[in-house]
Amino acid sequence: MYQITECENTKAYLAIEGLENQLLQELPSEKEIFGRLIWVKEELKNPVFWFANQWQENYQIEFDSISDCAKALSSIQKNWWPYFSAHARRGTLIQDALPYISPKPLVFPGSMQTTYPPLGSWTLLGPNTALASPVCSSPRPHGEWNFVEDRVGPPSRAYLKLWEVFSMLQMCPKPKEKCLDLGASPGGWTWVLTQLGARVVAIDRSPLREDLMTSPLVQFQNGNAFSVNLEDYPDTSWLFCDVICYPEKLYEFFMQKVLPSSIQNAVCTLKFQGSEHYPVIQKFAAIPGGSLIHLTHNKHELTFVFRRTV
Ligand SMILES: C[S@@+](CC[C@H](N)C(=O)[O-])C[C@H]1O[C@@H](n2cnc3c(N)ncnc32)[C@H](O)[C@@H]1O
Repeated sequence: MYQITECENTKAYLAIEGLENQLLQELPSEKEIFGRLIWVKEELKNPVFWFANQWQENYQIEFDSISDCAKALSSIQKNWWPYFSAHARRGTLIQDALPYISPKPLVFPGSMQTTYPPLGSWTLLGPNTALASPVCSSPRPHGEWNFVEDRVGPPSRAYLKLWEVFSMLQMCPKPKEKCLDLGASPGGWTWVLTQLGARVVAIDRSPLREDLMTSPLVQFQNGNAFSVNLEDYPDTSWLFCDVICYPEKLYEFFMQKVLPSSIQNAVCTLKFQGSEHYPVIQKFAAIPGGSLIHLTHNKHELTFVFRRTV
């Protein structure tokens, strides 16, 4: 026997490991905490960004047996991924009775063409009570985009951020398309872009790895990324910025130079040291066509993704 009750207007957030406090600060004081999972039962005033996965449509399931819980979950949808802060042994038996989900890492660039079927998330609140959301913000287990890594080609691990963004967007620069890569050294992002066949103007105060400096697809410019005059780069459709700077500086640059330009797409990293720069997050979030995500491969960072709408 089981009983499913819809928990209307509630959301649960899976915190990012190591950044749990950032999420707790964004959420109201009334919340239920189950390890990394935080369940909020009221409408939020401001958008929330420091999470790995958002559980968007929640159901509480009361059940008698392991097979009853598995049946209840299957009656809601096919594919599920569990998160356990308690009752893990019992939860594992329930998960074993559900269709198998492979946690295999993704292979780029195939990950951009993959169809990700809806993946629900569930947890045990007690031995006979589950919380389940068939609709989540991410189609990946726990919101994690893990890849089969390339340990030879790229000059830095930053390439994983672009693999993740492009896989999520299911789009990337096309061969010969023009890109600007600001704060490009040692060249992880430039490497990704050249692998895709794009042409890159890379700006930094330090050089790229030697093979990228001599690549026919790369034009390197030594200098201050924020002094760039975007009119000098007509037909550039993508702008990338991974410069280490205060996020306010990046905001000013974006509003003054990128937004009024003809750049169609942008991917920029907002890098934080303490929490004093958090107010600018809401300003980025208000930019039309923009969204802010914490990528699996971000540290104390958020990634601003811009796609021009008009
Ligand atoms: C995190 S690293 C970039 C990593 C790069 N995206 C990659 O994939 O390898 C940040 C870079 O920003 C550069 N940088 C910092 N301030 C800059 C500025 N005002 N103009 C140009 N480059 C800057 C640094 O020299 C450094 O190479």
